[in-house]
Amino acid sequence: MPPDHPHRIKPASIAAQALGWVDEQTKAIAPPIHTSTTYLRDADNQYRSGRIYARDNNPTFDQAEAVLTALEGGHASLLFASGMAAATAAFQALAPGDHVLAPNVMYWSLRNWLRGFATQWGLRVDFIDMANPDEVRRAVRPGVSKLVWIETPANPLWTITDIALTSEIAHAAGAAVAVDSTTASPVLTQPLTLGADIVMHSATKYLNGHSDVIAGTLTTREDGALWQRIRAIRAQSGGILGTFEAWLLLRGMRTLFPRVAAACAGAQRIAEHFERHPAIADVLYPGLEAFAGHAAARRQMSGGFGGMLSIRVRGGEAAAIATAANVELWKRATSLGGVESLMEHRASVEGAGSPVPSDLLRLSVGIEDAGDLVDDLEQALAQARA
Ligand SMILES: Cc1ncc(COP(=O)(O)O)c(C=O)c1O
Repeated sequence: MPPDHPHRIKPASIAAQALGWVDEQTKAIAPPIHTSTTYLRDADNQYRSGRIYARDNNPTFDQAEAVLTALEGGHASLLFASGMAAATAAFQALAPGDHVLAPNVMYWSLRNWLRGFATQWGLRVDFIDMANPDEVRRAVRPGVSKLVWIETPANPLWTITDIALTSEIAHAAGAAVAVDSTTASPVLTQPLTLGADIVMHSATKYLNGHSDVIAGTLTTREDGALWQRIRAIRAQSGGILGTFEAWLLLRGMRTLFPRVAAACAGAQRIAEHFERHPAIADVLYPGLEAFAGHAAARRQMSGGFGGMLSIRVRGGEAAAIATAANVELWKRATSLGGVESLMEHRASVEGAGSPVPSDLLRLSVGIEDAGDLVDDLEQALAQARA
C-alpha cells in the first residue's frame, strides 16, 4: 500500500512521484513489472498474500490505480484493457430492463455500442441533450433510470455538462452518475468531488499521453454494489490490461500535469488565433468566452479548458479535408491526448447518424511550440483556398 503522506501534497506532486513508492527490496524508485500469472498458496491452504491469479488483480496495476484514485479523490480504481472495456463494464454492471440516459454528443464508438449491443442485451437507452438540465429532469425516470452517463467536454463539439447539477437531478431519481472525463483529465476536473459516482478515462489519451498504450480506467467515489459488480466483470470477463502497458501507463501519468498544462495553453492560443479568421466559420473551444458552455466550464474546470478544440472550415467538407491534406506539422490521425498534435476530419470517421458537421476538423493539441502549430494551420488553410 502507498505510504500515507505526512502532509498534504499537491496533485502534480502525487503524479510526478507516482505516490512516492519505493521498492522495498531494491530501493528502486521505478517499479518492477510483475509478469507472474499465478501466486503461491500457503502450506496451510490459505492465500494470505491476497493474490491468487493475475486476472483478478496484479501488483503491476496497484500503483497506477492508487495514483489515479488519489488524483480523482475517489475510493478505488480499476485498469482495463481499453477505454471501451472500462466504459462498457459500467453498463454491463446494470441489469436487462434498466434505463440509462446518455448524451447525444459523445464518443461515437460508445454511442454505437449503446445503440447496438447494450440495447440488444436489454438496456433501455435514451440519448438526450445532457447539457440541458431541464431535458435531464424530463428524461430521467425515478426508480427506473439506473445510470446517467455524462461526457464533458464531449467529443467532438466539446459540449459542457454541469456535473454537480446533473448529479443532483440523477440522484434525486435514484440513478447513479458516471462521467467520461477523458478529455478533461483529473488535472482539470474531478467529477467525483462534484457529486458523480464513477469516473471513466480512456487512459489511451492524456493519462498515458504518448500514443503508445491502449488502456481504460474506472474510479469510484465509494464502495458499493455497483462497484463490486464492476470488479467482478473485470475479473470474470477478463478485459485486463497487460503488465507492460500498466507499467507504461504509470510512467506516462508522472508527466500528466505539465503535458496537460502545455496542451491547454496551446489550445487556448490556437482557439483565440483562429476565432475570427476569415477561413474559419467557427471555433469550438470551452476556453472561449463566446462558447456556449464557457460559464459551466469555468465552474468545474480549473487550470485550463483542455487540449481539444474543433474548427469549422469555410467552404464545407471539401475545404476541411483539403486543409487536413496540407498540414505538415500536425499529424492527420485519430485519437487525442498525446504529446504530438493530431487533426482529424471527424465526420469521415463517425459516418451516418453522427451529429458532427461535415466541415469540422477536430484538433488535439500536443506539447509542440504553439506558434509552430498556428503557422502550420495557417499555411494549410491558405493552400486549401488557393
Ligand atoms: C472520450 C473518449 N471516451 C472513450 C474512448 C474509448 O477509449 P479507447 O480507445 O481507449 O477504448 C475514447 C477514444 O477515442 C474517447 O475519446
